[in-house]
Amino acid sequence: MKQVYMDTLGCQMNVADSDRMELLLFHFGYSRTPHMEDADLILVNTCSIREKAEQKIFSLFGGIKSLKEANPGLVMGLTGCLAQQDGERLLKRIPCLDFILGPDHVEDIPLAVDRVLETKKPLVWNDFDNKKNYSIPPVTGQGRTNSHPSAFVNIIKGCDKFCSFCVVPFTRGREKSREANEIYDEVRAQVEQGAKEIILLGQNVNAYGKRGLKTPVAFHQLLYGIARIPGVKRLRFTTSYPGDVTQEMLAAYADIDILVNHLHLPAQSGNNRVLEAMRRGNTVEEYLALIETLKTRTPDIELSTDIIVGFPGETDREFEDTLRFMEQVEFSSSYMFCYSPRPGTPAAEFQDDVPEPVKKERLQRTIECQNRLTAMRGEKFLGKEVDVLIEGEINRQGTTLMKGRTPHYWQTHFPGTANRFQPGDFVKVRVEKVAGHALKGQAVVQ
Ligand code: SAH
Ligand code: F3S
Repeated sequence: MKQVYMDTLGCQMNVADSDRMELLLFHFGYSRTPHMEDADLILVNTCSIREKAEQKIFSLFGGIKSLKEANPGLVMGLTGCLAQQDGERLLKRIPCLDFILGPDHVEDIPLAVDRVLETKKPLVWNDFDNKKNYSIPPVTGQGRTNSHPSAFVNIIKGCDKFCSFCVVPFTRGREKSREANEIYDEVRAQVEQGAKEIILLGQNVNAYGKRGLKTPVAFHQLLYGIARIPGVKRLRFTTSYPGDVTQEMLAAYADIDILVNHLHLPAQSGNNRVLEAMRRGNTVEEYLALIETLKTRTPDIELSTDIIVGFPGETDREFEDTLRFMEQVEFSSSYMFCYSPRPGTPAAEFQDDVPEPVKKERLQRTIECQNRLTAMRGEKFLGKEVDVLIEGEINRQGTTLMKGRTPHYWQTHFPGTANRFQPGDFVKVRVEKVAGHALKGQAVVQ
C-alpha cells in the first residue's frame, strides 16, 4: 500500500473531513502513516479562521518543501478553508503544491490524486457544489479510522449567519442539512463499530433542518431520533448558534437522558454595541434569558463559550462588560481569541483600531477570569462521583493514568492501567482534586 501523511488544523469539522479523506484514500490504496518522510502523499487540511492559523500553514510548508525536492514523485495537497479562500493564489505562494481542494471537494480526494499522478499538472478545485442536498454516502467495507469511543457525525454544513468578523460563510458556503435517515444509518454503523458517544457536528448544528430536507426534521426531533438508537450511550453536539436555540431544544436537555449536560454556546462579547457591530443577531439580555431557562430546567448544566477581544472599536468599558458577563454566566471553559481581520468579511473594512498590546492584555485578563471560573465550577465536583467515558491512558511523571471525560465535558484523570480499563468503558470516579481544566480522582470499585 502507498502511504499518506495527514496534518489537520482548525476545528472539529476539519478533523471529521480528514477522517473521511483517510477512509476514502484507504479504499484507493493509501494507508495513513505518522511519518512524513515515508509518505507518497502529504495532505494538509487547513484553517483560515484567524490570521495565526494561516501563518502556521505557510511555515509548515516551508519546512516540508525539501521532502519534495528529495522525492519528486511525492504528491502534496492542501485542503480545507484556506484552499477555499485563496485557491489559485496558493500555487504561487507554495509552488511545491500539486493540488488544492476546497471543503466541498472532500469526496473527490481520490480523483484529485489520480488526476495529478496522471497529468503531472497542478489542479485547483474550490468551487462550491451546487447540489441542494448534503450527503455523505457510506463507503462499502467502511471501517472506523480510529478506536476513539466518540464518533463525529456531520449533520449540517455551511453557515448563513454572516457575523461581520467571520470567514466561515465564505469558506464553507450555505447551510445544508443531511437527510435524517442517512444520519441515523451512520450512527447505527458507528455504534456497531464500537462508538459509545456520538458528537453531532456542524458550523451551526442547531440550524439543522431549517430548509432543503426532503423529509423535514427539526434539530430537536433529530436529537430524540438518535437517542432512540440502541447502543448510543452519550450524545453531544457542537457548535450551536444562540440565535437558533429553540425552546424545544432546551426541553430536550431535560428529557433526553443520554444528551450530555454540557452546551457550547459562543457568545463572542458581553456588550450590546459590540454584538451589534459583530452582527451576532442577539443581545446580552436575550442570551442571559436563554441560559436562565436552561439552568432552571437542567440545573447541573455546564456551559462553555467563545470570546473575541479587541473587536474594532471595543472600548475598555465594553471589554469589562464581557468579563462581567462571563462571571454572571459562570462558564466552565472558554475559547478566547484576539480579533484578527479576515479577507472579504465586512469587519475587515472597519478600522482594526485596538492596538495589539491592548488586545493581548485583554486576552490575558479574559484567560485569568476564565481560570478563576473554571476552578470554581470544578470545586463543585469535589467529593462527588462522576461518570467517565475512558478515552485512553497518559503517563505523568512515571505513573500511568487513565483519561476520559464526564458528561459535562470535564477531562478526568485517575490511576489505572490498560489491563484493567479499556477505552470505551464507563467508570465512576470520585473526584479528589481540580487541576486546571482536569478533575483528578480514584475509580470507585463496584
Ligand atoms: N458557529 C460558531 C462560530 C464558529 S467559528 C458561532 O455560533 O459563533 C469559531 C470561533 O472562532 C468563533 O466563535 C469566534 O470566537 C472565533 N473567530 C471567528 N472569526 C474570528 C476572527 N476574525 N478573529 C478572531 N476570532 C474569530
Ligand atoms: Fe461564523 Fe457567525 Fe457562522 S461566527 S460560523 S458566521 S454563526
